[in-house]
Amino acid sequence: MKLFACGSCNLPDAPYSPSKASRFFTGKPPIPSPSRFIFPEDFQISSSSSEIETRFLFLFGMAEGSKILIIGGTGYIGKFIVEASAKSGHPTFALVREGTVSDPAKASLIEGFKNYGVILIHGDLYNHESLVKAIKQVDVVISTVGHGQLADQTKIIAAIKEAGNVKRFFPSEFGNDVDRVHAVEPAKSAFATKAAIRRAVEAEGIPYTFVSSNFFAGYFVPSLGQAGATSPPRDKEEDIGTYTIKAVDDPRTLNKILYLRPPANTLSLNDLVSLWEKKIGKPLEKIYVPEEQLLKNIQESPIPVNVILSIGHSVFVKGDHTNFEIEPSFGVEACQLYPDVKYTTVDEILDQMAGKSKILIIGGTGYIGKIHRRSERQVRPSDLRFGQRRNSFQSRQGEPHRVFQEFRRHSAPRRGDVHDHESLVKAIKQVDVVISTVSLRQVADQTKIIAAIKEAGNIQGEKIKSFGMTVDVDADYS
Ligand SMILES: NC(=O)c1ccc[n+]([C@@H]2O[C@H](COP(=O)([O-])OP(=O)(O)OC[C@H]3O[C@@H](n4cnc5c(N)ncnc54)[C@H](OP(=O)(O)O)[C@@H]3O)[C@@H](O)[C@H]2O)c1
Repeated sequence: MKLFACGSCNLPDAPYSPSKASRFFTGKPPIPSPSRFIFPEDFQISSSSSEIETRFLFLFGMAEGSKILIIGGTGYIGKFIVEASAKSGHPTFALVREGTVSDPAKASLIEGFKNYGVILIHGDLYNHESLVKAIKQVDVVISTVGHGQLADQTKIIAAIKEAGNVKRFFPSEFGNDVDRVHAVEPAKSAFATKAAIRRAVEAEGIPYTFVSSNFFAGYFVPSLGQAGATSPPRDKEEDIGTYTIKAVDDPRTLNKILYLRPPANTLSLNDLVSLWEKKIGKPLEKIYVPEEQLLKNIQESPIPVNVILSIGHSVFVKGDHTNFEIEPSFGVEACQLYPDVKYTTVDEILDQMAGKSKILIIGGTGYIGKIHRRSERQVRPSDLRFGQRRNSFQSRQGEPHRVFQEFRRHSAPRRGDVHDHESLVKAIKQVDVVISTVSLRQVADQTKIIAAIKEAGNIQGEKIKSFGMTVDVDADYS
């Protein structure tokens, strides 16, 4: 039995920073200066400068992609979708309740939205007029409302019908494919509610995409899938946001289920536990619970433990994440559609939980690099993640070729060259530690590595090559 978990991803490009909000202007023609500006109805003079930039851009048709409204953007998964939408350049709107905007607990989230240029629209699922008004301003509606509001998404459907302009609707799904589950109560009813919303969307002829993201990594990986177990919170689901937003303007996802099934995150519960055992270097005590006992536990447990247990039963006992093939007639798989997205693996998440660093070895195919790599592997197997290699390396024969083949078994080779700044920065951004074992001829050129480390800005520690006589081991290159 396998499960899929999808969490945060490392996008290949630079991390977005609010100060870069003005990037929306990059490469665009200068804004014309018309004699009169017409603002959308809800324009507020207190809008942030990024928000005003966004409004100008879409007023003049210069913003990228469809205009997206997220209903439920201040929730757990919603905030990742809002962020992914704004980062990808879509004019992004969030429907927020008035009370939420003034809620101190949500203040930093709301501030973050404004910095991303997100346009906040006051509204409520239970205020039809506010919904229609918000929906009329956009092309695509994504609902990420929570469990308590799932059934009331009929109100969004009614508003979309009245507005009459929506190109695509994503109802609040982000879990199992609810048309292909074998769940017991209470998960059964929750899944049935989502399925009923699917039928309502189809019956109204609204163009849709249903996102079946399977388990949220942040919910299930830290506890190794155990209901009620305490574990450090991990609030990171960027991959789900990224894949959802990529689907918005993609004709291949129209009227389809978008499945998130990252191959590296296809794990049984036993796989997950043994992976963790390897990270911590010791076996865990395991108690095997027969299905009968699990069903009894579900009946006897209070909310929400019974909900989590019954979802676990659907996934781990019935295999509802993997017991069917994705047929082109109803679905598409996100990793196959968007191979450019580098999703975070469960292995990487467990590394972070175990506090182990990801290491980049530059020069790992050389004499000392190989030895260093081996010793690292013996001491801390999970640490050895990345070895950098040059473009020419793969085509070489003999010893380097053999070494490279061995690399592939134990690490993730990254294409690059010390003299190619961009490749260095890209590789460094993916790790925590850089070890250089470049040869004598490139020793002076390690300034290029230092420059790349400075630009990447994420390195905790670095060893400048000094595999010989001690030269100045304490030199501070940071
Ligand atoms: N696959 C998994 O592992 C997994 C795990 C958890 C959830 N999910 C699914 O993900 C989806 C979202 O769940 P979630 O846990 O992210 O939700 P959540 O954190 O409970 O967030 C709910 C959102 O809905 C908003 N909302 C509530 N009432 C509203 C109203 N009357 N008008 C407008 N907005 C309203 C909330 O706004 P306020 O900030 O104003 O309250 C909030 O932004 C659900 O379909 C859920 O089943 C999947």
